Amino acid sequence: MKVLVLSASPRREGNSWALAQSLAKGAEEAGHTIDFVQLSDYVEAPLGDCRSCRLSDRSCGIADDYERLLFDHVLPADAIVYATPLHFYGMTGRLKSFFDRFFCYTSASSPHTGEVVPGLMHKRAAVLISCEESYRGATLGLEAQFQELTRYLRQDLAGVVVGIGNSRGEVERDPARPLEAAADLGRRLGDAHVTDYRLDTDRSNRVWGPSVEA
Ligand SMILES: Cc1cc2nc3c(=O)[nH]c(=O)nc-3n(C[C@H](O)[C@H](O)[C@H](O)COP(=O)(O)O)c2cc1C
Repeated sequence: MKVLVLSASPRREGNSWALAQSLAKGAEEAGHTIDFVQLSDYVEAPLGDCRSCRLSDRSCGIADDYERLLFDHVLPADAIVYATPLHFYGMTGRLKSFFDRFFCYTSASSPHTGEVVPGLMHKRAAVLISCEESYRGATLGLEAQFQELTRYLRQDLAGVVVGIGNSRGEVERDPARPLEAAADLGRRLGDAHVTDYRLDTDRSNRVWGPSVEA
C-alpha cells in the first residue's frame, strides 16, 4: 500500500510527529511505501466563501498548495494516517481546514468532483493524537469526529493511538508506550480488523475464527 502520513502539528518534530514516525516505521517493516507530509508545507488558508474565492471555471482560487497535496498525495494513497496534537479538545486548525476544503473539490458545482469523490473513498485510515491531559474525555470528542469523518468518506478507521506528553518528544516517556502502539498499528494497517455491524449483518459467532489447539 501507499501510506500517506499527514503530520498536522504547527510544531515540527514534536509529539504527534514522533507518533507518526513510529507508525511509518512499522508500516515500512510491513512492506508499505510511506509518503510523509507536513501539512504546514501545503495548507495555509482556511475555507473561504466559495462565492468570492472561486475562479471563473468554478475551481478553487485559494492560493496555497492544498490542490497539489490533494492531487499528488491524497488521491493516490491507499491509506491515510492523520497525526495531530490535541488543540482545545480538537484537531489542529490546519487539519480542520484540510477537511473543510474537501468541499471545494467535492461539491456538485466543482469541476473536480468526478475525480475527487471516488479518489477519497475506500482507503484505510489511522489516527494519532498527542496531548497533555490524560483523562479519557480529553480525546473522546476528536476520536468520535474521526469516526464520523471516516464513515462519511467511506474510509476504514483501522485504529487510534493516543500518546501523552507536552514538551517536545516527551511522548516517548509515556509509560503506556504509544510509540510502540503506533508502530504496531503501522505494521497492521493493511489487514487490521475493521467491522461495523447492523442488526442484519451476516456473521458467525466468532470474531477470530476457530480457536487454535495448543
Ligand atoms: C494551542 C494549543 C492547544 C492545546 N490544547 C490542549 C488541550 O485541549 N488538551 C491537552 O491535553 N493538550 C493541549 N495542548 C497540548 C498539546 O496537545 C501537547 O503539547 C501535544 O503533545 C503537542 O503535540 P505536538 O508536539 O505534535 O505539537 C495544546 C497545545 C496548544 C499549542
